[in-house]
Amino acid sequence: MPLSPLVTVVAALLASAFSSWQLLNAAAAADLPHFREAPAFRNGPGCASAPTIHIAMTLDAAYLRGSFAGVISVLRHSACPESIVFHFLATDPRRFRPAVAASFPSLPFAVYRFDPAVVRGRISSSVRSALDRPLNYARIYLADIIPRSVGCVIYLDSDLIVIDDVAHLWVTDLTPDHVLAAPEYCHANFTSYFTDRFWSDPDYPRVLAGRRRSPCYFNTGVMVMDLDRWRAGGFTRKLEKWMEVQKREVRIYELGSLPPFLLVFAGNVKGVEHRWNQHGLGGDNVDGLCRDLHAGPISLLHWSGKGKPWLRLDAGRPCPLDALWAPYDLLRREDQLFTDS
Ligand SMILES: *[C@@H]1O[C@H](CO)[C@@H](O)[C@H](O)[C@H]1NC(C)=O
Repeated sequence: MPLSPLVTVVAALLASAFSSWQLLNAAAAADLPHFREAPAFRNGPGCASAPTIHIAMTLDAAYLRGSFAGVISVLRHSACPESIVFHFLATDPRRFRPAVAASFPSLPFAVYRFDPAVVRGRISSSVRSALDRPLNYARIYLADIIPRSVGCVIYLDSDLIVIDDVAHLWVTDLTPDHVLAAPEYCHANFTSYFTDRFWSDPDYPRVLAGRRRSPCYFNTGVMVMDLDRWRAGGFTRKLEKWMEVQKREVRIYELGSLPPFLLVFAGNVKGVEHRWNQHGLGGDNVDGLCRDLHAGPISLLHWSGKGKPWLRLDAGRPCPLDALWAPYDLLRREDQLFTDS
């Protein structure tokens, strides 16, 4: 039977749409750094009943190398890597999907669009401009963007490596009603994360009353998040309200996306062992000096702060601990001494 003219026309349109889509993809990915293909990570024995672990991260051009190092570190240290699903947020998913698929061909993943317009009117400038990137605020919107079928995720920043089986973090018990779990740092001076204007206000500090425990600092780069409870409790809106206070009323803090998290969750966070966030390896927000590890066991190394290991390695001025990050670097170098396997 001959094809009707309409079918022929539709087929031709689809074909041309597809090829221009491919061209767009190629053009969009062209300006990204080039990465090697990661080895395939296979499940070990005893994974038949392993739970599916959901991990959320962001992807952008500046931190892509860090994100990929994070992904490969998670897979490399997992006993059941094939049961891990990655959920990536990017302002332009079309640009990053091909890059992820090329470096991790068998990885179950999705890239969702994070619309920077959502936060544009809510970001106030902080002490370090990198903290003001809209994508830095994407973690606030995870529960709205990731499909509702996903009830829990581990959020990871793009400047860290996991050196333990992430399944140990995944089993963090959030019952009866915690929304977030993260390592807490109760010796840090909580007062110093907010301005005098905040503390002297008759109303604002009252948000911290009635918490289960006295509020402690926690780092938002590693969080186990109950997305079902987050959605049910409308926590995105609660965080947004503090961003609006900061932007429209009074300057109540100096950092980026962290203080709203502290205001909403500090004191109600489920504590996690400190080994799951050895943060601060990037130094402070101004100088990015070398830091040493804190005492105790380590499951995750986090280069929070200004200094990033890939930048310091490239500049030929690495800190001693940056050598621990280097084996996870997937960047393809034209002058690489060792051939890719
Ligand atoms: C904590 O920080 C506040 C504000 O920066 C400061 O006034 C206070 O003295 C600090 N407390 C301690 C115990 O260091």
